[in-house]
Amino acid sequence: MHLTGTMQINGAGHLEIGGVDVVELANSYGTPLWVIDEQGFRRNCRDFREAFARKGNSLVLYASKALTSLAIIRIVAEEGLGLDVVSGGELYTALQAGFPAQHIYFHGNNKSVDEITRAVDNSVGRIVVDNFYELSLLSDLCRAKNYTQDILLRITPGIEAHTHEFIQTGQIDSKFGFTLPDGQALEGVKKALNSPNINLAGLHCHIGSQIFEMESFRQAAALMMDFVIEIHNKLGHQFDEIDMGGGFGIYYSAGDEPTYADDWADAVMSTVAKKARQANINIPRVIVEPGRAIVGPAGVTIYSIGSWKEVANVRKYLAVDGGMADNIRPALYDATYTAILGNKANIPPQELVSIAGKCCESGDMLIWDINLPAAEAGDLLVVFATGAYNYTMSSNYNRLPRPAMILVNDGNSDLIIKRETYADLISHDLIPARLNPSR
Ligand SMILES: Cc1ncc(COP(=O)(O)O)c(C=O)c1O
Repeated sequence: MHLTGTMQINGAGHLEIGGVDVVELANSYGTPLWVIDEQGFRRNCRDFREAFARKGNSLVLYASKALTSLAIIRIVAEEGLGLDVVSGGELYTALQAGFPAQHIYFHGNNKSVDEITRAVDNSVGRIVVDNFYELSLLSDLCRAKNYTQDILLRITPGIEAHTHEFIQTGQIDSKFGFTLPDGQALEGVKKALNSPNINLAGLHCHIGSQIFEMESFRQAAALMMDFVIEIHNKLGHQFDEIDMGGGFGIYYSAGDEPTYADDWADAVMSTVAKKARQANINIPRVIVEPGRAIVGPAGVTIYSIGSWKEVANVRKYLAVDGGMADNIRPALYDATYTAILGNKANIPPQELVSIAGKCCESGDMLIWDINLPAAEAGDLLVVFATGAYNYTMSSNYNRLPRPAMILVNDGNSDLIIKRETYADLISHDLIPARLNPSR
């Protein structure tokens, strides 16, 4: 059992989060239910902010694609982080939550004219420009508005990091950014420096997700700094900041060995500082954009167990009342999770089962092979580390209403996202007049 933040087993033998019993949560709000541990979430925000601040001039952006909602963004603002948004919708959510626009970095490989206009009109801190098309679009738009926008250029440094694999193959085949190895990045920088109404403040890269190897970040930071130095020497331009993206790995299941924020900060910041000192240039401000590492471990999903099926000598399936609609990650890329029975948290596991979702896909399996106490219909399965990329990647597949999300803290629980209703599901449906039966 991998308990994080305020999670503990209480006297009743139930899992408790933020001082609230999961049985109570299920009774009050129903299942499936997403639950966010506010203190755990805040602690992770602080750990990253403080770890990087201790090492020098830095800014931690929370990658809101991992989990965004008005309440979540409010907490991020209170914790003093900046924000990474990647669409008009994420930007809108941030602004509606009152997030300071100057601390918003706007990413995306195909931002629409409308999205760019909204970002500029709201004076976001930086637009992270992804390609030549966007650079021209942004420059023209800003010129028409007589406004100068600070930007970063997204660079594809030629490194791709995987969870247990580190490939350095001049990995230029990516839809994102200006590729470094083939000289496109240099062209991009030259073009940006010559573009009217654009201030090129720095460079950005993002080498992957759920990364555990510090070496991946060291190498990426070194490559980016070599490029910073090359630009300084060739073009005489000094960048103010370098953004190393997100991707810090978390514990999902056995074998995952996350690194402390302090160690990440050390790996990135010391590489940048060392390179800058060697080249006798100013040390740029270092930015990172963790999403998963901040909110992933702070979230759990509570499901009710319903039906089961035993395939003799093969496996026992236990089915829950959610699945790929609220957590697409196992079906999408074989993501693994751990879970317990939240209402039988101190009973030792006694059978090997597999957890099936309720969607009409054989691939809708949440967990293959997990040891649990003997389970009955109505027991509560609590899946850990579902804070990131569950709600934000959820769907209404099979017309399942999205679950509610609850924020727990200090014995209190607050609804922060309402459960969808069947009426919500048809609220955007329209029937053309010609299908009207009275015609
Ligand atoms: C540009 C960028 N920054 C930050 C992130 C956040 O990554 P993670 O949640 O793995 O930290 C992503 C994730 O895809 C990303 O694409």
